[in-house]
Amino acid sequence: MVSAIDSEKFRTLIDINARLNSSYTDFRSLLKTIVESAARLVGAEAASLALFDAPTNTLRFEIALGPRGPELQGKSIPASEGIVGWVFQNKRSIIVNDALHDPRFSPTVSKEISYSTTSILAVPMKVKDKTEGVIELINKTSHGLFVDDDLEWAELFAVQAGIAFDNARQYEQTEHELAYLHHKVQEEQGWHPLIFSSKVMQDRLDLVKRVAPSDASILILGESGVGKELIAEQLHLNSRRSQKPFIRVNCAALPESLLESELFGHVKGAFTDAIRDREGRFEAADGGTIFLDEITELPLKLQAKLLRVIQQKSFERIGSNETIRVDVRIIAATNRDIEKLVQNQEFRSDLYYRLNVLPIQIPPLRERREDIPTLAEYFLTKYARETNRRGIRFSDSAMELMLSYSWPGNIRELENAVERAVLISKGTTINADDLMIGKQPASGNERFQGKELKEAIILFKSNYIRSALEQNRWNQTETARYLKIQRTYLSRLIKELNILQSKE
Ligand SMILES: Nc1ncnc2c1ncn2[C@@H]1O[C@H](COP(=O)(O)OP(=O)(O)OP(=O)(O)O)[C@@H](O)[C@H]1O
Ligand SMILES: [Mg+2]
Repeated sequence: MVSAIDSEKFRTLIDINARLNSSYTDFRSLLKTIVESAARLVGAEAASLALFDAPTNTLRFEIALGPRGPELQGKSIPASEGIVGWVFQNKRSIIVNDALHDPRFSPTVSKEISYSTTSILAVPMKVKDKTEGVIELINKTSHGLFVDDDLEWAELFAVQAGIAFDNARQYEQTEHELAYLHHKVQEEQGWHPLIFSSKVMQDRLDLVKRVAPSDASILILGESGVGKELIAEQLHLNSRRSQKPFIRVNCAALPESLLESELFGHVKGAFTDAIRDREGRFEAADGGTIFLDEITELPLKLQAKLLRVIQQKSFERIGSNETIRVDVRIIAATNRDIEKLVQNQEFRSDLYYRLNVLPIQIPPLRERREDIPTLAEYFLTKYARETNRRGIRFSDSAMELMLSYSWPGNIRELENAVERAVLISKGTTINADDLMIGKQPASGNERFQGKELKEAIILFKSNYIRSALEQNRWNQTETARYLKIQRTYLSRLIKELNILQSKE
């Protein structure tokens, strides 16, 4: 005869079974239902599911229900500690009705969360014969004792939990793999995946999608390293121009004479080095998008020429009278206070107004901290793969440090910190120290020890200039201003001292 409670147990199992195939994405809630049902139907005051974490050799309480559940949830214990540890190691179920007098019982957790444990029923959760965790039911209700029948039911629930867990894990792995491949394909085509989870970045991306179809010029504003170039890429990719060229030009990278020819091209004989006709970047971008980075560094003369391209879509190559017409969407970016430059007449106001029809402001990382874990994990996966260190993870203190740091160099700085940490960390965990953030780089005299004065001076100069360049985002005009030297002198020093920009 099937009793009323037994038939409820069967019904619950059948319900869970039905959800097993439908709730891949919501597996935590399914696991929670399973643990909850087990506790209710077997009759326990509290229940938990601890999952094994191989890198740290611990069992982590993934789900914890009952009076002290919230305190227990998320805590980890060594994989050999307590009754849970015993069940995990021995892969066998157990009933302990007098927990306090059982040598295997570890009072640490109970004490820590001030919960008194009397009776325990614990069963392994297996996936394809491998024990992945332990379901623990605590304190049989009405001061009763757990019996074999309870244990058999708990094992049935553990089987269901194992299937749910396995489904979810495989689903998750497939999703990771797919996202990774998608990013890889994008990267191989020269695109950078835009990673975020904050609402403000979602709002920015929504805005990008709304304005992408239009041909209006766009000005992207924001501090160095916030991802302005990535936003420009998204504008292009979401526009009707996506199959046409996306041409990047850094206006700070070239002196005026070269920049003009780079942008607009020249004809043979236009100047001494013009030995043949050359197409400019605007022509190359025809039908597509041109991205003018560091737009404030565009010399005034070229600002006028650019204004005409925006208004009339036409220009001439250097040394030619022939007017060339192009269909190019212009996206410009700057990390400087362009409005102030306009006030100081260092940037043409008419050009500014034409560019600023649709400004997009990208907030610094410290104003969207929700993005920090997402980005950090993304960079970790990327560099762990590249260096064959899969399975490496952040310690809690490393994550806390990243969350509290102000990231003046924004995402570029975060990416560099994670890349470096992957290289210098030992074992499978990245500690706070490995991030080397918020500290001055090693200075001191030891670097110069044993060196001749001349050699030490060269070393100092090259380090000093490199750090000035880094502070000024390798913008030579700004670095020269910062060091109070001529730009031409700076560029000579860079060559002489062989200072190369490190890979971003
Ligand atoms: N949301 C993001 N997801 C992934 N990577 C990002 C993101 N934002 C920025 N990055 C990475 O950070 C680095 C800096 O981004 P980007 O070059 O777009 O910055 P920027 O705003 O143009 O800075 P600057 O003003 O210094 O040119 C790049 O390596 C980029 O791939
Ligand atoms: Mg940039």
